[in-house]
Amino acid sequence: MIAVRPPGDKSISHRALLIAGVADGVSTLRHLGDGADVWSTIGVVRTLGATVDVVEGPTGIDATVTPSVAPDAVGLLDCGNSGTTARLALGLLAGLGVGARLDGDGSLRGRPMRRVVYPLQAMGARIDHEGEADRLPVTVHPRATGALRTLRHRPRVASAQVKSAILLAGVLDGVAVEVREPARSRDHTERMLAACGAPVERREEGEGAVAAFEPGSWSGALRPLDLEIPGDPSSAAFMIGAALVNGRPIRIEAVSDNPTRNGVLEVLEEMGAAVSRENETISGGEPVCTWIVEPPDRLRSFDLGGTRIAGLIDELPLLAVLAARSVGRSSIRDAAELRVKESDRIAWLARNLTRIGVTVTERPDGLDIEGTSARLAGRVESGGDHRIEMAFGVLAAAPASDIEQEGRGCAAVSYPRFWEDLRAVTTWTE
Ligand code: S3P
Repeated sequence: MIAVRPPGDKSISHRALLIAGVADGVSTLRHLGDGADVWSTIGVVRTLGATVDVVEGPTGIDATVTPSVAPDAVGLLDCGNSGTTARLALGLLAGLGVGARLDGDGSLRGRPMRRVVYPLQAMGARIDHEGEADRLPVTVHPRATGALRTLRHRPRVASAQVKSAILLAGVLDGVAVEVREPARSRDHTERMLAACGAPVERREEGEGAVAAFEPGSWSGALRPLDLEIPGDPSSAAFMIGAALVNGRPIRIEAVSDNPTRNGVLEVLEEMGAAVSRENETISGGEPVCTWIVEPPDRLRSFDLGGTRIAGLIDELPLLAVLAARSVGRSSIRDAAELRVKESDRIAWLARNLTRIGVTVTERPDGLDIEGTSARLAGRVESGGDHRIEMAFGVLAAAPASDIEQEGRGCAAVSYPRFWEDLRAVTTWTE
């Protein structure tokens, strides 16, 4: 059976670098993701004054991060294509009281920032939009005196980026914060801050969760990190998809099995795949293991919606292309957030699937997709979005596909070895 080791988890990599940059000592981070987004965060942490020494290995980056006291204001933080970098950096700056200007590429400039800026302003941070409200570039002003205000936030939509920005602001300035979410977004920030000694807690409440920081008598010093970053389940999902559409089993090694990230496996099981786990362990407060996924004779359709969406939001492009190769009609609902990712993913999925001959209905918050075993042929585009490019890369590598991808090249935002690994999975023989 082919075995793939996915790149280091992108979400955990961003958090590890940002937290290491403000910790109370030197951190050692191994197997960080090596996509362009993680490099954006390395650049941000360096601009904030920390020293980040990197060694690039064949499957990821090892880094030693030496923090230094940030000045009152730094220059431009270029977040590239990375929404997580921009939103978490806003929380970090607000908590440190450091001024900076934040900007990103054309895609990131089109994404909503108010969801982070408003709660941070409510805490007392001074943040201005330079142009259009709700968009980058923004300027964070230095906070010379005074503390932030405590905040209890109840966002309408669950977002780990919003939650993380508020937690970072609260922890770095030592003010209590609480975020109550309607669904369970990824909880890496809570786990990592707690592992560094900060009194951060998370509890599940109904279908959602509450994350809270209460300083109490905590010293305010974050213990440095010594971490091996687990593999990225969102990158791994594409390799599993490629194996399934080709009727092959696959092993995914050293992957994050965090329950707020592994929702895709449950859907694959509903589609008929058999999933098992080996080598289960905890590393740096995160569950890690090997996933073994075996294909069914034919994939079945699925119906997805409600609070499950938060736990597999980044896997929806992959699930949508698998739906096109399954038996029956699949539906995705309650996923309007997909419209404000690196591209409008609902629109790009509908457009591309239609172009190659799949029957699709676009909904405001999702898609209906008719599975087919007919030949799929035509030209697709990625819309500059790494996950759209990888999803159609998987479909193009399935049997009875004659799909041409225009302007390939953005997979490297999260998964630089994507095309190499895809070839290995689809050409592998026992
Ligand atoms: C991420 C959170 C999710 C996800 C994104 C990474 C993170 O976004 O889609 O790819 O690392 O916190 P939201 O927080 O906007 O849901």
